[in-house]
Amino acid sequence: MAKPPEQMTVLGIETSCDETSVAVVTGGHQVRSNVVATQFDVHAKYGGVVPELASRAHIENLDACVAEALAQAGLTLEQAREEIDAIAVSNRPGLVGCLLIGVTAAKTLSFVWGKPLIGVNHVHAHACSAAIELPADQPLWPAVALVVSGGHTSLYHVRDPQQIDLLGATIDDAAGEAFDKVASILNLGFPGGPIVERTAAPGNSTAYSFPRTMLGRDSLDFSFSGIKTAVLYTVHGPGKTTGGLERLSPQEIADIAASFQAAVTDVLVAKTMLAVEQTGVRTVVVGGGVAANKALRSGLTDACARRGITLHLTPMRYCTDNGAMIAHLGHHLLAAGRTDPLSLEARATA
Ligand code: KG4
Ligand code: ZN
Repeated sequence: MAKPPEQMTVLGIETSCDETSVAVVTGGHQVRSNVVATQFDVHAKYGGVVPELASRAHIENLDACVAEALAQAGLTLEQAREEIDAIAVSNRPGLVGCLLIGVTAAKTLSFVWGKPLIGVNHVHAHACSAAIELPADQPLWPAVALVVSGGHTSLYHVRDPQQIDLLGATIDDAAGEAFDKVASILNLGFPGGPIVERTAAPGNSTAYSFPRTMLGRDSLDFSFSGIKTAVLYTVHGPGKTTGGLERLSPQEIADIAASFQAAVTDVLVAKTMLAVEQTGVRTVVVGGGVAANKALRSGLTDACARRGITLHLTPMRYCTDNGAMIAHLGHHLLAAGRTDPLSLEARATA
């Protein structure tokens, strides 16, 4: 007899970018393990993720991550074969060579263990990540979901985990990408988000006035390439791309970082509130790597409190890429009977 959904256990595999992660989640919400292997040291000297190197690192890390995730969940290989009900894998969108490693591993486990395979949209998983550890009998949905990561900046209307409608997305750079590029302009290191946040801490966020690109009053799309260029010209002088950084004091660099962070936060908060108005939904959830940013977290907290909107911020450990969010959404797809054949493909686009 089939198990009820609350007893089902899903193995989640995530390899869409530069984190190799595997998790074991029971009932969709009980995270029994969530192992994450980062690759910061592999990419740091290039100032950004090198896709070919990321794929190779996934190959090197994935077996050990699966073994560790099973061990931390208290499962031997034999027990895992018995207890795990499905294999969920991030199969789109992302770096296709990276996705392929996770998809191949997931298909292999699915085939060998005779368990269903579930392809999960990585950005949808971020959109649902605020609910990972919340009680299954208190669903958050419907909600407006803001997903802010290195590859994506999107607003969704999450009617429930099986029905996620896109409301708007970036037309150029993602918010995290802008953080990473500004870190590179200021020569702060990689990955940029956390370092820009730390650099901004002693800075004055009103010292520089960077553009808040809104793309029209009713638009839920984003654009962050203009602000990146504005930071570049502030550092080097109008029209110049080099030579200015050495002339800036540490305080000026902190002020630029803080003013940049404030401009990005303002846009993200304003668009999220516009999505709330347009949909009439009274709950906001936020996920993705940039959701770890404290200025953004407090900006959204204030804006939602002023409007009486319920806000669920994804716990910090589930903001950046992780297998738990893949297993979590995979669980809801499994419960709805949405499994995939072994011909499932890795796709760069959603
Ligand atoms: O979701 P994620 O791990 O990977 C993608 O799917 O892209 O997000 C990574 C992005 C990077 O651009 C990183 O710089 C940014 O999230 N990030 C942050 C912070 N922590 C990570 N951005 C701003 N503030 C942070 N504290
Ligand atoms: Zn991500």
